[in-house]
Amino acid sequence: LRLEPFVDALPIPHVAQPYEGRAGGKAKYIFTIDEIQQKLHRDLPPTTLWGYNGMFPGPTLEAWTNDPVTVTWVNNLRDENGVLRTSHYLDVDECIHGPSFSQKVPFVVPHLHGGKMKGRWDGHPDFQFPPGVNDTYVFDNEQRASTLWYHDHALGITRLNVYMGLAGLYIVRDEYETKLQLPSGKYEVPIVIMDRQLNRDGTLYYPSLWTGAFTGDFLVVNGKITPYLRVERRAYRFRILNGCGTRALELKMGKGKFWVVGTERGLRRKRWKTTRVLLVPGERIDVIVDFSSRRVAEKIRLVNKYPRSHAPGSPPLSEDVLEFHVIESEPQPKYKPPKALDTSVKQLPSSANMVKREFTMGEMQEEKCSGKVYRINGLGWDDLTEFPLVGSREEWTFVNLDSTHLHPMHMHLVEFTVLRRQPIQVTGDGTYELVGEPSGPLKGDLGWKDMVGVFPLEAVTVIVQFPDKGGGRFPYHCHILEHEDHDMMRQFHLQQLHC
Ligand code: C2O
Ligand code: CU
Repeated sequence: LRLEPFVDALPIPHVAQPYEGRAGGKAKYIFTIDEIQQKLHRDLPPTTLWGYNGMFPGPTLEAWTNDPVTVTWVNNLRDENGVLRTSHYLDVDECIHGPSFSQKVPFVVPHLHGGKMKGRWDGHPDFQFPPGVNDTYVFDNEQRASTLWYHDHALGITRLNVYMGLAGLYIVRDEYETKLQLPSGKYEVPIVIMDRQLNRDGTLYYPSLWTGAFTGDFLVVNGKITPYLRVERRAYRFRILNGCGTRALELKMGKGKFWVVGTERGLRRKRWKTTRVLLVPGERIDVIVDFSSRRVAEKIRLVNKYPRSHAPGSPPLSEDVLEFHVIESEPQPKYKPPKALDTSVKQLPSSANMVKREFTMGEMQEEKCSGKVYRINGLGWDDLTEFPLVGSREEWTFVNLDSTHLHPMHMHLVEFTVLRRQPIQVTGDGTYELVGEPSGPLKGDLGWKDMVGVFPLEAVTVIVQFPDKGGGRFPYHCHILEHEDHDMMRQFHLQQLHC
């Protein structure tokens, strides 16, 4: 299947409208999960997908710091006859953890990735619900301006539910960031990149049995395959999400430079000018691109340069992600984002009395299912071994024992900063030693994060800030959805202080 690139305009998901209150403030929403038909490309018939409120990606939910938002999620998945689904649209591998209890029923559980919320509303797989059922969550938004996203998190079928389309952006705004007057309104554009594999008839292809890596040939951006975006001769702000299951992206914009102003959890301390940026699955960046000195009719391509060696799975058919078409417009003065964006953002230091934990991650053999499984410290979902205290900081080291797979690690609820990266050498079954010199965070690691890419044969240490209230069990896992589903996902139990 070959599809002509740059023939569809980049769709901009609309901002969700509440049934009570107003978008961007205290508000109440209904998000219905439906089976939908949506055209992914000019030359394809509509594809069967799952969407929030009838669209893929879902509407962008805009919130304001400290203004709580209530969302009622309705699982309304029905088959082509309008009957509530008792089986998934895709084939479910019942051998892996999760689906074996549910007999292929398409349970859902929406998770706000990067959100600080009570455990009950975290999208924890314990609270997944079947078609015909709904659940109401409250997000307090007690957090700074940032680019979050929501996506499904059902146990053992997260990769399938997200692949069907259950994902969207959630943007938190605050006064501080608003005062910086970064490009806004129609000059602030979300870019959600997800890869998909299609059958000749335009239907989604996904393997029937669990596989450790899956990449699609087509890069779908905001719901269209390699689209174009018309831009004026001025600066834009792009909030970019790598929403792929397995594929890492290294984005480059023609020959030009751009500014990175934010990470997953908000503004960076300082702007960073670069020609390329790496985005592992689950990661977001906030960038400023200035088209003011571009010629009318100039075309600039956003391409993916991620080297094949690090990407489990094949490269896409082409590097193309998106093309910017510069339209006839009054050129605006050159724009630079402020040099110091948020000086309160600091890299957290390690200290001697901090609790230090270590997590080895790797592929293991197992008798059942496909014969292999991904694990953290060789343990599984029900093995609780981390009980951090509210308000504490801990040092967590993720050690990637695999020589080919990147593991993008994610922790729910918390934010962290990257302290150190160091190469390792595997010395035996599950054992390793550090080699060479440690290095500090990469340029792209700086700032508050909830994702960190751990490269093959590397140990990455982060300092985790646990929130000063709340409690309960929260997942942490690899964000390669195939790994998360089998079984590179565990839980920490946040504890209250007892005197
Ligand atoms: Cu974006 Cu637990 O995930
Ligand atoms: Cu992984």
